[in-house]
Amino acid sequence: MKTILCFLFLSAAIFSVQAQQTALITNTDGRKTISLDGQWRTIVDPYETGYYDYRYLPSPNGYFKDAKPKTKNDLIEYDFDTSETLNVPGDWNSQKEKLLLYEGTIWYRKTFDYQKNPNTRLFVYFGAANYVADVYLNGEKLGRHEGGFTPFNFEITNLVHDKANSLIVKVDNKRRRDGVPTLNTDWWNYGGLTRDVKLLETPSTFVQDYSIQLKKGSREQISGWVQLNGTKPGQKVTVRIPEAKIAKTFTTDANGRAEIGFDASLNLWSPDDPKLYDVVVEAETDRVQDQIGFRSIEVKGQDILLNGKPIFLRGVSIHEEAPFRGGRAYKKEDATTLLGWAKELGCNYVRLAHYPHNETMIREADRMGIMVWSEIPVYWTILWDNPTTFDNAQTQLSEMIARDKNRAAVIIWSMANETPIDDARTTFLKRLAERARALDSTRLISAALERHYLADGHTQMIDDPLGEYLDVIGCNEYVGWYDGIPEKIDTIEWKTKYQKPLIMSEFGADALYGKHGDAQTRWTEEYQEDLYRRTVKMLKRIPFLRGTSPWILMDFRSPRRPLPGIQDFHNRKGLISDQGKKKKAFFVLQEYYRELGAQAQK
Ligand code: GCU
Repeated sequence: MKTILCFLFLSAAIFSVQAQQTALITNTDGRKTISLDGQWRTIVDPYETGYYDYRYLPSPNGYFKDAKPKTKNDLIEYDFDTSETLNVPGDWNSQKEKLLLYEGTIWYRKTFDYQKNPNTRLFVYFGAANYVADVYLNGEKLGRHEGGFTPFNFEITNLVHDKANSLIVKVDNKRRRDGVPTLNTDWWNYGGLTRDVKLLETPSTFVQDYSIQLKKGSREQISGWVQLNGTKPGQKVTVRIPEAKIAKTFTTDANGRAEIGFDASLNLWSPDDPKLYDVVVEAETDRVQDQIGFRSIEVKGQDILLNGKPIFLRGVSIHEEAPFRGGRAYKKEDATTLLGWAKELGCNYVRLAHYPHNETMIREADRMGIMVWSEIPVYWTILWDNPTTFDNAQTQLSEMIARDKNRAAVIIWSMANETPIDDARTTFLKRLAERARALDSTRLISAALERHYLADGHTQMIDDPLGEYLDVIGCNEYVGWYDGIPEKIDTIEWKTKYQKPLIMSEFGADALYGKHGDAQTRWTEEYQEDLYRRTVKMLKRIPFLRGTSPWILMDFRSPRRPLPGIQDFHNRKGLISDQGKKKKAFFVLQEYYRELGAQAQK
């Protein structure tokens, strides 16, 4: 009893969070930052020896202490200074052959000096860390973040030293049954500090966050809010759009919040004219600048309306994988290459699957005029009855929306992909959809749903109960690949229970670039090309179809695809190989989108 009590006291002392995870600071580009990217010292720790003692109890003297032997007989069994390094940002799997399949813990350490400026605060910001990150500064625990694809930050104002700060992150990408995603995915479980890490310096009271978009259903009214954080919450804040000669002043309340609303006659953002305005949010103690586009997105019956006009979403699905070099994408050039290929296809839209991609990708889509479906990794069969799993999914949803709510390109929030129909699942996802609407009423809510055949064996019926709670129905279909062979597609008709627009969110077939044969031979470019030809004809027979995002733009790594000489742990459904080679089917889709594009111009 005594040992447990003293252990509890100890752990409370050791693990009491000095600093805490603060609400997300958005638009880090528009602030004073110090990058911590580059080489980090790392310790690969499969048994989590740096966290647990031999009784598998959290150890007070873990690697987060960054300890050094003080005397010649001191026993320290790790040393960051002489340990190997890994690049940040970057997943560890594609950086070292020996880590390609590694799932577990790796400790990252970065040291830095920091000259404190009076009346300022300091935060450490992570673009993402897959999957669970425990963060420490100078031996103190800052906190923990779960979820591999959304940003988080901690305040370190009272913990930072002038010299030799030791920032340590324990990153663990082990898959978990109660996780989001759960144990099985058809994408590589890239681990590590996969996106930027930076220090953010702010005034003592700063502009923490803001939402500045067109009011739902309006094209002339802007509505939103500004949130200050600090000891001077009540201030005058001015929202400026200099190019439109707009400057509107509001007053934040005792919680630092001001609701904003004003008329504005602006050039609306669209794929043909992706207009972004410089927008300044100026408080008495802080000023941030952003580039924001303004557009309205709605549904009307089975139509999707962009700025009040019906639009067809000519899209393609994309995984966050870097062309040519592989591994998690994070660079601007990764984004411009992938979105450039989508533009070449004739796309005005992309489905970023199955998790929120990096902010660079979203801002490039904003600049290039490409609409975006953004999704949280509620993928296949997670634990629907588990409250922790729900909280985790809801947190990832909130973080996704928080980061990208001012991006005109993002038009759809997707709650899930290919989840089994049952009450617990539908309730889980219905609650997420409600949460998304509460956080952002201006965008459309969707999910990639299941469908089933009617008794006639060739009519696909969409009546998934989840459809009730969505604005746009997404549906994945693989007729001709997992379901029969391509000629079956010619017989397929589609029916829906819903007076809502349909996006065919996935379809496709595997083909190894350069493998040729007759159209009946799987894995050949001709088979994939034939499947696309027949599918395009089928799509034209669906009166309520308003968008497509075939699976997938580029071949990507998957642990579920071992076929030697063909897949080699890659999903080969790309229209482009991972080395940038276009397959025959690329041109079939390009032709279809050229046709649709021409019709849209009429
Ligand atoms: C599924 C799933 C994808 C997967 C694809 C495939 O529909 O959503 O993540 O990669 O099919 O099997 O290729």
